Amino acid sequence: MSRTRVLTGITTTGTPHLGNYVGAIRPAIAASADPNVDAFFFLADYHALIKCDEPARIQSSRMQIAATWLAAGLDPERVHFYRQSDIPEIPELTWLLTCVTAKGMMNRAHAYKAATDANEAAGEDADAGVTMGLFSYPVLMAADILMFNAHKVPVGRDQVQHIEMARDIGARFNHLFGQGRSFFTLPEAVIEESVATLPGLDGRKMSKSYDNTIPLFEGGAKALKEAVARVVTDSRLPGEPKDPEGNALALIFDAFACADEAAAYRADLRAGLGWGEAKQRLVERIERDVAPMRERYQAYMADPQRLEDILQTGAARARAIAAPLLAELREAVGLRRFAGVAAQAAAVKVEREALPQVKQYREADGQFYFKLLSAEGDLLLQSEGHASPKEAGQALQRLRKCSEAELAEALAGQVGIAERQRIASAFAALQAAEADRKARGQAG
Ligand code: TRP
Repeated sequence: MSRTRVLTGITTTGTPHLGNYVGAIRPAIAASADPNVDAFFFLADYHALIKCDEPARIQSSRMQIAATWLAAGLDPERVHFYRQSDIPEIPELTWLLTCVTAKGMMNRAHAYKAATDANEAAGEDADAGVTMGLFSYPVLMAADILMFNAHKVPVGRDQVQHIEMARDIGARFNHLFGQGRSFFTLPEAVIEESVATLPGLDGRKMSKSYDNTIPLFEGGAKALKEAVARVVTDSRLPGEPKDPEGNALALIFDAFACADEAAAYRADLRAGLGWGEAKQRLVERIERDVAPMRERYQAYMADPQRLEDILQTGAARARAIAAPLLAELREAVGLRRFAGVAAQAAAVKVEREALPQVKQYREADGQFYFKLLSAEGDLLLQSEGHASPKEAGQALQRLRKCSEAELAEALAGQVGIAERQRIASAFAALQAAEADRKARGQAG
């Protein structure tokens, strides 16, 4: 049985807080460990551009979010983890979908309606300040989802309408161009009812828009402690019994503790634990989980090249899926080559220019070698000598098939982590290009 494809996007406009961790990051990573799940998590940075015109904030948010998910335990080898903006097939698909999307449906999108309603209430032109980005937001989101034929899309309630629209758009495209077959799987929204929403400093739901968040990693243990100190409590003194039901400290404690720990914390509050000490114990409990992750987070943030390499590898793997499907869609809508050979040669040439290269050759010592060069021409890998071209070729194939962990073993001690990631992403890029070439070749 093929695995369920679960896909979700994270808009890169903010800095992850404790509520994001408990409500989204932790459950998503846990779900991705299920062997029956093929997970796709991506940074929705094209979506971020719709809401934010500060380049520096876009850039730092993407880095923080990438580092957060990895530090929290996301395994980029089992999960597809990439930036939306590294997949050029997504904007291309967005256009194909835009051409079959009913404008009337977009007029009814909640986010757009909210903007026009607010404008009208203020006596302004209905579309004042509304960009085409905001208006077309659901089409881009449909492309994110349909590109990878996701079955399930875990989202918040506010996003359910967007998934319905993706279904609608996907079905329409299938109907118009599928000639009996379905290019797109129609996705289903998954709303996580069981997942906790954390209360924020003021007791309302923790949310960036209420400015009541507790930071996850940024600012270190100090910022976490200071934020917890600001959680609103009542004026009961130490020694006075306190009602833990619905209390923000107890609710946050619950999100980290096992059942026994949580019961003990509540019992102590009832028995008169002071708010100051209760906060202290909450910080300690959170830190037990968060401190080791924060260390990893800081290591990632200090090594942007490593993050870049991981995301490039993820993008190459995602494109290996996206490119062949897009080639079929282009064919289906009539964007076909006029003639095969010359055009194909040109397409291959363009790809080669931007691709890593493998070279196989014979040295003066009579032995056979191969080397891997990055797209920029840097030497990434140099083989040892082999007795025959066949043996050299087999050694190369073995390496090409390796996951990054296997590469680490195969190249034990020879290259550092950063190098390994560059090698893995070069091989993945080659594989993606091959898949693309095959698909386009078949299509033409
Ligand atoms: N719009 C989503 C949000 O704001 C983020 C997102 C973009 C997304 N593309 C997606 C979520 C595709 C799920 C699937 O939360």
